Amino acid sequence: MAEAVGPGRRPGPRMRWPPPLSARVEWAWLQGLPLRRWRLRRLLSLMDGHTGTAGLLLDVGGGTGIGTEEAARVAPAGTYARRLVLDPQRAMLQRGSRRRGSAAAGWLRGSGDHLPISNASVDLLLSFGVLCCMEAKDVPRAVSELYRVARPGGYCLLGLPKSWAGFSDPLFRSAGFRPVAELRPGRTLYQRPDDRVPTPSGSVDLSSRA
Ligand SMILES: C[S@@+](CC[C@H](N)C(=O)[O-])C[C@H]1O[C@@H](n2cnc3c(N)ncnc32)[C@H](O)[C@@H]1O
Repeated sequence: MAEAVGPGRRPGPRMRWPPPLSARVEWAWLQGLPLRRWRLRRLLSLMDGHTGTAGLLLDVGGGTGIGTEEAARVAPAGTYARRLVLDPQRAMLQRGSRRRGSAAAGWLRGSGDHLPISNASVDLLLSFGVLCCMEAKDVPRAVSELYRVARPGGYCLLGLPKSWAGFSDPLFRSAGFRPVAELRPGRTLYQRPDDRVPTPSGSVDLSSRA
């Protein structure tokens, strides 16, 4: 159940965000590292055989948009033609739009627990290293927001540190997602089944669950 997340029940050490200044320099450096891009491409390889022909990609907590950029690079031509990066930090978005402006059509300021996006409208959601940076109390809401905006049959690609392994999966399943491919727990491709209907409020009607 979503209630499994709560203050004091977070697995592993909490990632501090924003990181201290020294770590920010390291993070900026890591952004461009070939190793980081290789790791992203490995995660994105879970999409092989699951890409649609067109559609909307939303990178939630996308920072400077490196995940979006790699997703566009590896996807078959014409896939995810519309790409949005959403992040609460203006500085991240500014840096991203300056350095890799063509990676996304829109750079939106917002929080993962209140996505300014219509129900059932996104074909591919990226959530790379984000839930672990949020307040624990906001995480269940953020997962149900991912579900709300995912198109039936759409995907959510999740990347989380090992310390979250075994913790994120119950949350995603209870929101309604089903896992379709995995590198390891916490590095998982989920799909929103297409037999569910969001209620007008945007919450999920679970009455049809088996
Ligand atoms: C570790 S960085 C990952 C950035 C990007 N996904 C990547 O892979 O490079 C974590 C990101 O989560 C964002 N973040 C923190 N709290 C958030 C929230 N409540 N909603 C959405 N994003 C959030 C931060 O601003 C930061 O850009």
